[in-house]
Amino acid sequence: MVIFMERTYSMIKPDGVARGLMGEILGRIEKRGLKIIGMKFTVLEKAKVEEHYAEHSAKAFYAGLVEFVASGPSLSLVIEGNDSVKIMRAISGETDPADAAIGTVRGDIALAMDRTLVHTSHSLEAAEREIKLHFGGAAFMVYKRCDEDFLYE
Ligand code: CDP
Ligand code: MG
Repeated sequence: MVIFMERTYSMIKPDGVARGLMGEILGRIEKRGLKIIGMKFTVLEKAKVEEHYAEHSAKAFYAGLVEFVASGPSLSLVIEGNDSVKIMRAISGETDPADAAIGTVRGDIALAMDRTLVHTSHSLEAAEREIKLHFGGAAFMVYKRCDEDFLYE
């Protein structure tokens, strides 16, 4: 089997923290077999959120999105594992919770497009950019999961 070991960036946004869903969401990531190697619990500066969501700067929802994501604590994550970019997008579900499949974070526990609980990088390039933006040159945790020999051949 070819393993696409890679790193992605995700964030449990302020609605996820405020609703007490950090454990629920982290549990889904861990259960899937992905490895959390970086974690930062902060209130993001507005300028950082603007940069994070720069691709959406011309859109009508941008100002409200930036304001909300900077409004309270969020949990930034660096996640490593086979195809982690794609798998984290699958765990999160479609952007509009109304379209998100049951079994995804948004399909199970979110209701509205402006409160989507999680962010997760949409590509490997975005993941690299977002990890650098939120973690700079930080070193990430190196450890072995006890189930690793059964998650990967
Ligand atoms: O988060 P995701 O990558 O799935 O979606 P996006 O298209 O990159 O949009 C980023 C975030 O903007 C979403 O997670 C929503 O919280 C928000 N958004 C919104 O409030 N209204 C929209 N029409 C589209 C996105
Ligand atoms: Mg996106």
